[in-house]
Amino acid sequence: MELPNGIESTQELLDAQAHIMSHTMHFINSMSLKCAVQLRIPDIIHKHQKPMTLSELTDALPINKSKSDCVERVMRVLINSRFFTKIKISEDKEGYWLTPSSHLLLTDKPFSMTSLVIAYGDPIFTDPFHHISEWFETKDPTPFVMIHGRTFWEQAGEDLRLNRFFNESMASDTWLVSSVILKDCRHVFVGLKSMVDVGGGTGTMAKAIADAFPGLKCSVLELPHVVAGLVGTQNLTFIAGDMFDSIPPADAVFMKWILHDWPDEECVKILKNCKEAIPCKDNGGKLIIIDIVMDKPRDHEKENNAFMETHILYDVLMMGLTSGRERTEEDWAKLFHEAGFTSYKITNVLGFRSLIEVFP
Ligand SMILES: C[S@@+](CC[C@H](N)C(=O)[O-])C[C@H]1O[C@@H](n2cnc3c(N)ncnc32)[C@H](O)[C@@H]1O
Repeated sequence: MELPNGIESTQELLDAQAHIMSHTMHFINSMSLKCAVQLRIPDIIHKHQKPMTLSELTDALPINKSKSDCVERVMRVLINSRFFTKIKISEDKEGYWLTPSSHLLLTDKPFSMTSLVIAYGDPIFTDPFHHISEWFETKDPTPFVMIHGRTFWEQAGEDLRLNRFFNESMASDTWLVSSVILKDCRHVFVGLKSMVDVGGGTGTMAKAIADAFPGLKCSVLELPHVVAGLVGTQNLTFIAGDMFDSIPPADAVFMKWILHDWPDEECVKILKNCKEAIPCKDNGGKLIIIDIVMDKPRDHEKENNAFMETHILYDVLMMGLTSGRERTEEDWAKLFHEAGFTSYKITNVLGFRSLIEVFP
């Protein structure tokens, strides 16, 4: 048998084939997770309070019972991806049990990420990725624009279902992040009298900060369709507006998951508007940014970079949906400099994302 160029042995040939097969089917990992969340499998196992056998699980599921063995096959995918585990119950019985990750897939529990799993698996998120190669030949800013004829944010303004589930998915992520920030980074807000959360969604972060610091006046600047009908509190207000027009004055501007939605040129415009909104550094002015700081390309070979895959996948998610990108520290420094900021400080306390304080 003649081996193809670049392949040195039959073993290498078979490994290459298996690699392609496995990678091509990776969508089954995310769709199996979506299925488990939609069937509420984590909730059912949690409610059972002990490891659950396959027959107990299938009895509890609202499914056609002729499909029971298919549940076992989907669960095997999710055990392989560490969303569930199998525990020995007796000599001849094993039961499904939760892992730390599936504890975040319980509905209506603190830090539930169920709405994010369902949102990211929705065809409106996944469809653009079927068209990346065609998009490369067009002038369209994103595959999303190419197939929908408008930007993600314009679509969210027209499509009530997208607006609702996207805002919910952002709020679920922000609920977890705000809890960690208020536990480990409270000092970031100490001394501030006012803060505006730019693109702050339905106010999850601003509300958490406003509750933790009753003397701090918080506001959320958001697109009108996001904040329509939202009511503030004594120290929280919602402002319908556009961050590209202007940002209301405040001691600090907070932005979580905003700049990664935009290309560099737009980021500089947003950052310049932020700079106009805040006082000078000596008077306490600053930006507080939560976003990804990617490793430099040469660091990609480090074996222990647990977040690298999440970073590079998010980068392409942004390419597909919003025309944004993820950035290295050097990329961030360049943006801050171009917008007229003098210094910044990155703190890595938020898992795959970082907290970046930026000073005028
Ligand atoms: C990725 S979401 C992040 C939401 C929130 N910061 C969070 O992390 O939960 C980006 C937000 O930016 C908002 N946004 C987009 N364009 C905007 C604009 N021109 N002015 C203000 N907000 C905008 C969107 O409506 C959306 O809620």
